[in-house]
Amino acid sequence: MRITLIPLLLVVAAACVPALCGKEEQPVLQLEAPVETRSRFAALDDVRLLANGLLQLGQSLREFVQKTKGQINDIVHKLNIFDHSFYQLSVLASEIKEEEEELKKTTVVLRANNEEIKGLSVEISSKVDSILQEKSRLQNKVEGLEEKLSSMSHGLVTIDQVAEIGGLKEVIHSQERSITALLNAVREQTDQLNHQRVKINILEEKVNETIERMPDIFNSEAPTLSPYLTSSSTNTANLPTDCSDLFKRGERVSGVYAIRPTGTEPFMAFCDMSKDHGATVIQRRRDGSVNFDQNWEKYENGFGDFHGEFWLGLRSIHSLATQGNSVLHIQLEDWKQNRRFTEYRFNLNGPESNYTIHLTHLFGDLLDPMSNHTGMMFSTKDRDNDNHQESNCAHYYTGGWWFNACGDTNLNGRYFHMRPKWRSDRRRGIQWKSVQKASYSLKLTQISVHPVASPNTTPSTSASYETGVFL
Ligand SMILES: *[C@@H]1O[C@H](CO)[C@@H](O)[C@H](O)[C@H]1NC(C)=O
Ligand SMILES: *[C@@H]1O[C@H](CO)[C@@H](O)[C@H](O)[C@H]1NC(C)=O
Ligand SMILES: *[C@@H]1O[C@H](CO)[C@@H](O)[C@H](O)[C@H]1NC(C)=O
Repeated sequence: MRITLIPLLLVVAAACVPALCGKEEQPVLQLEAPVETRSRFAALDDVRLLANGLLQLGQSLREFVQKTKGQINDIVHKLNIFDHSFYQLSVLASEIKEEEEELKKTTVVLRANNEEIKGLSVEISSKVDSILQEKSRLQNKVEGLEEKLSSMSHGLVTIDQVAEIGGLKEVIHSQERSITALLNAVREQTDQLNHQRVKINILEEKVNETIERMPDIFNSEAPTLSPYLTSSSTNTANLPTDCSDLFKRGERVSGVYAIRPTGTEPFMAFCDMSKDHGATVIQRRRDGSVNFDQNWEKYENGFGDFHGEFWLGLRSIHSLATQGNSVLHIQLEDWKQNRRFTEYRFNLNGPESNYTIHLTHLFGDLLDPMSNHTGMMFSTKDRDNDNHQESNCAHYYTGGWWFNACGDTNLNGRYFHMRPKWRSDRRRGIQWKSVQKASYSLKLTQISVHPVASPNTTPSTSASYETGVFL
């Protein structure tokens, strides 16, 4: 009974596996089929099922791999960007470290000097002590001698003896005088040493201060340039459209005048009448009296002092440029009094395009790194419109400019009276790329605008050809 039941159960079990997935199977009707064949078919179905599953698994695996590949590419790309930024950061960090090391070295030298002087001082005071002891010893001797002399004078003393004692007394007195003189000299020297110590202390304090204050030196705010004139404050109807117009009207004295470019508000401007035409000055650097690291608002409205250094303001420069036919005249002077100039056909778009500059080089005796800035928007530390993907040129190089990425010019950089010791500082100077010297900061700059010259006016600037930065 049990023996016949087992194969039956097996057949039912084998038929049951496909039955789970296929409805058409009818195990009861096929009970008659040979047991062996039936189980082989069942196994084949199983295999097909398994293959199907495997195929699906394979497909989804492929999809997964492809998706993962994309993600990995993305991550690699991000890592590359990170790598690049990291490199830049580490360059910056090493520069800062370099500066710090230099300052630390200076401080160490100063401190060593101070220690040495302290040592000398101690030595001298111990010497003074021993001299003082010597002196009191001598004094005691003198007193003893004097006592002896007086006691002897009561007794019998020969004339010779009196003379000898007198001579001896004289010798001792003169010795005492020379010791006093020596003491005075030593005291003087000690005073001088102390004086020097105080000086070194002050110097060290200054070094400490410089370390702390370095980032603040260039942080001052520039005064706002005189605001736009209100129509009521001046009779603006008959104002010249620019300095060139004023020149044509006969004015020959350089100075600050009210002008009103066609179709715009009137404003004050500095007119350079020194050439055979009037030029409206839009920028001047000459002594570092004004901090040019200002924000967008300042660069838009102008800042500085017309009688010193100033930036006329993008709004006014745009007004001048919209009159058309503008020439941008750039005049530079290095620290060896070499003057050079260059001129461009010039246009400046308005605020809606962030004052994009358009330049076409005309002539001049300067290299022309500025053409590469054509088509660039204006950038300041608070409005980054440069072509550099990862960094803000205006923040790094300081000042507002038509930075490219970042480019070889920045006439609104920091004013350096002396060549900065550190490379990172030098690159923040008033730059106009020169072949010979990297990161040279100029002494004088003047940028002005005037209409295209009539045929008979050739540039009157005479260039000197001595060796200098401009070669
Ligand atoms: C300068 O700074 C160093 C280290 O910070 C300090 O030890 C030293 O006393 C400071 N010197 C002066 C004069 O402040
Ligand atoms: C002008 O600059 C601002 C701020 O940097 C920027 O958001 C804007 O897109 C710029 N305008 C144009 C036309 O590129
Ligand atoms: C223009 O400037 C960019 C970025 O600073 C530089 O890569 C490119 O070589 C320059 N082109 C010329 C013609 O100087």
